[in-house]
Amino acid sequence: MSSEIKITLVPGDGIGPEVTHEAVVMLEAVGQWNGVKFHFVEMPIGGAAIRQQGSPLPPATLEAALDSDAVLLGAVGGNEFNLLPPDKRPEAGLLQLRQALGGFANLRPSVAYAPLSNNSPLRPEVTEGADILFVRELLGGLYFGTPRSWDRESGVALNTMLYTREEVVRVARVAFELAQKRRHKVTSVDKANVLEVSQLWRATVTEIAAEYPDVTLEHQYVDACAMHLMNTPRNFDVVLTENLFGDILSDEAAVITGSLGMLPSATIGGKVNLYEPVHGSAPDIAGTGKANPLGAILTAAMLLRHSAGLEQEAQAIETAVQRVLAAGYRTADLARTNQPNQQIVSTREMGKHVFEVLNEIIDCSQAMHAV
Ligand code: IPM
Ligand code: MN
Repeated sequence: MSSEIKITLVPGDGIGPEVTHEAVVMLEAVGQWNGVKFHFVEMPIGGAAIRQQGSPLPPATLEAALDSDAVLLGAVGGNEFNLLPPDKRPEAGLLQLRQALGGFANLRPSVAYAPLSNNSPLRPEVTEGADILFVRELLGGLYFGTPRSWDRESGVALNTMLYTREEVVRVARVAFELAQKRRHKVTSVDKANVLEVSQLWRATVTEIAAEYPDVTLEHQYVDACAMHLMNTPRNFDVVLTENLFGDILSDEAAVITGSLGMLPSATIGGKVNLYEPVHGSAPDIAGTGKANPLGAILTAAMLLRHSAGLEQEAQAIETAVQRVLAAGYRTADLARTNQPNQQIVSTREMGKHVFEVLNEIIDCSQAMHAV
């Protein structure tokens, strides 16, 4: 573990800057605790970068990102860019950044937090104890496959779903290795009843599974998986899937937690790991103080775990989030009518509450070490 960690912050658009700020507050608290020095360099990306510099990923942002130990992103996207072609939109900046950093395994945990059990439209007895880790392949499939085009004259558009065996092998290994540290089960999701790409996917994952005899592998078609996730979320441990299926299923799985605002993510396996909450830029509530920072704060925990080797500190943040929820604090997205003991708080207030509980946990652990 290095005692100096250089983090490029790319807060981006909409609520990105607000929630990223709260994530940074937690990292700074951890730095005070254990002496690790976090250096933050803030750079523009997405719509903010288009407005400032005419490009969603300016070269200086990319350079800083490549020269850091981890990249922490807020969100990209805004309504004013909706009519632009895909390669000019804020999202293109994020996709270029993902590609340049090289991380191919996007980890998206979806956990049913007990204090939020009434937030999900699913019954508490369905979600109780659910703890799923999506491993979404992030650099292949329809997102990056070529050829791609939209010929307005002929009215024909084309995207290419392409995977090589090697791309499947490397992400499958990540999924199996993570399953070995969890409940030893991988559900691989595809559409092998229709798509050749999925047949390659399924054959390759089956082959790699042989290297991990202690992990049970099951296959599901993506349509069936979408249903099983809602019916029996506890049956899933690690869900391994390709880029677009993972994009869709991870949003669906937010229903288990009660809000998309709760989901963190980490992208590993490349030159520099990239950390981003799963939620988007939510331009409708940007600047109103309503954004839920917990997805970003939990993303900071993932950064500590996967880029700094600080497992204890990562867990401290996760525990702090749980306790703040148990105490009844809710941002607007988490608030429910007729819930006793809930207190509606702003983005900043939520960050302060997590910070306070995190400091209590830190004090407690220091007191124990002093004994
Ligand atoms: C996500 C987002 C992105 C994606 C967009 C913003 C490009 O939806 O991270 O899930 O589709 O990967
Ligand atoms: Mn998405």
